[in-house]
Amino acid sequence: MDRSDYKALFRAAVDQVRQEGRYRVFADLKRHRGQFPRATWTRPDGREQDVVVWCSNDYLGQGQNPVVVQAMTRAIEEAGSGSGGTRNISGTTRWHVELEAELADLHRKEAALVFTSGYVANEASLSTLAKILPGLIVFSDALNHASMIAGIRHSGCERHVFRHNDLEHLEQLLAAAPADAPKLIAFESVYSMDGDIADLRGTIALARSYGALTYLDEVHAVGLYGHRGAGVAERDGCMGEIDIIEGTLGKAFGVMGGYIAGDADLVDAIRSHAAGFIFTTSIPPALAAGATASIRWLKAHNEVRVIHQERAETLKRRFMNAGIPVLPSVSHIVPVHVGDPVHCKMISDMLLADHGIYVQPINYPTVPRGTERLRFTPTPFHTDAMFDDLVGAMDRLWTHCNVKRLGGMAA
Ligand SMILES: Cc1ncc(COP(=O)(O)O)c(C=O)c1O
Repeated sequence: MDRSDYKALFRAAVDQVRQEGRYRVFADLKRHRGQFPRATWTRPDGREQDVVVWCSNDYLGQGQNPVVVQAMTRAIEEAGSGSGGTRNISGTTRWHVELEAELADLHRKEAALVFTSGYVANEASLSTLAKILPGLIVFSDALNHASMIAGIRHSGCERHVFRHNDLEHLEQLLAAAPADAPKLIAFESVYSMDGDIADLRGTIALARSYGALTYLDEVHAVGLYGHRGAGVAERDGCMGEIDIIEGTLGKAFGVMGGYIAGDADLVDAIRSHAAGFIFTTSIPPALAAGATASIRWLKAHNEVRVIHQERAETLKRRFMNAGIPVLPSVSHIVPVHVGDPVHCKMISDMLLADHGIYVQPINYPTVPRGTERLRFTPTPFHTDAMFDDLVGAMDRLWTHCNVKRLGGMAA
C-alpha cells in the first residue's frame, strides 16, 4: 500500500469519531500543588485560564497531600528515579516490599501484588486465572470495566455476562453451569459512570452456594469507603469473604499503579504466571513510597471520607433543587444526564471556556449511546463558593441549550 493510503485510513478512522460528535480533545492542564482543585488550562490559542477541576479521580486530593509529596521526594533523593528493572530482575526495592505489605494489611489479606496500573492488574490477573484454573467459567457483570473484559477475553475461557447488578440473572447462569466446574464471579463495587454500588453480600452468598471465587474491582472505592479506606467490602463488613480484591493507587490514593490482594497461594500463583506482571518494569520507588504514605494516612483519617460524602450529597441536592437531572447515584459520583453527545460536548466546552469549570463530557463507548453525561466528582477541597459557581453556570447553560430538566421539561 502507498504511504498516503495509510494516512487516509487513519484520517477516516478519526473522521468517523468526529462525525458522531465524540472526538476527544485533551484539556492541557497545569496542576499547582496546594491549590487543588484549581488548575491552569492552556487554551488551544495558547492563552492561559484559571479553572476549577470537577472531574478528577484524585477524589480526596491526595495528589497534593504534603505527607505523600514528602514521601515521594524523599524516595527520589534516596533511590533516584526509576526502579531499574522488572520485579524479578532487580526491580523489587524495599519500597515495593513495604507497599505490598501495607496493601495486604489494608485489605486484611495474606498477600498483595502491585502492577503498573489498575488496568494492567485486571487484565493480567483475570487472563492468568483461567490458565491456573483449567476449565474456569467466568461470570462477569455487564458493566464491568474495559480492563476486566479484556482480561476475561484474553483468557479464552468460557464466560457468561450477567445483567448489571442483577443477582437473579447471575444465579440462573450459575445454576446452568456444571456443578463441579471452577467458577469466578467478576464484578465491581462502585460503578464509576452511574455511581451505583453492587450488592456484595448477595454476590458472596451466591458464590458460596455455587462454589465460585469472587473477584471484586474496588478501584473507585479504595481510600473512600470503610473505616480505614479499604473499600465497600470493608464498609459492608464482608472483606474477608471476597477472594480477590483489585484496586488502584492512581485515584483516591493520588499516585499511580494497581494491585490485587488475596490469599498467599493465589497471589503467588498470579505473581508466577501473569505476563503483565512479569515482563514489565516495576513502578518507580517514589511511586511506591507515595502510595504507602497515602494508604497509611487515609487509614487514620476517616474524617476526610465523611467530608467527601457530604460534598457529594450536597452537590446532588443542589443540582436537583435547580432541576438538573442527576442520575440516581448512591456514591460519591455525581452524574448528570444529557443524553446527546453533541449537547454534552457543547455544554462541557462552554463551562470550560466561559465559566472556568472543567468537566469532561462522557460519551460512547464509555457509556451507552443516548446516556451521554457530565460526571462530577466533588472532593473535600471543593468549597461552597465553587458549588455556587457551578450550579449557577449549569442552570444558565441548561436553559441556553434547551436541555431537559428533572420531570422531563425543557426550559
Ligand atoms: C473500574 C475500573 N477498573 C480499573 C481501572 C483502571 O485503573 P487505572 O486507572 O489504575 O489503570 C479503571 C480506570 O478508570 C476503572 O474505572
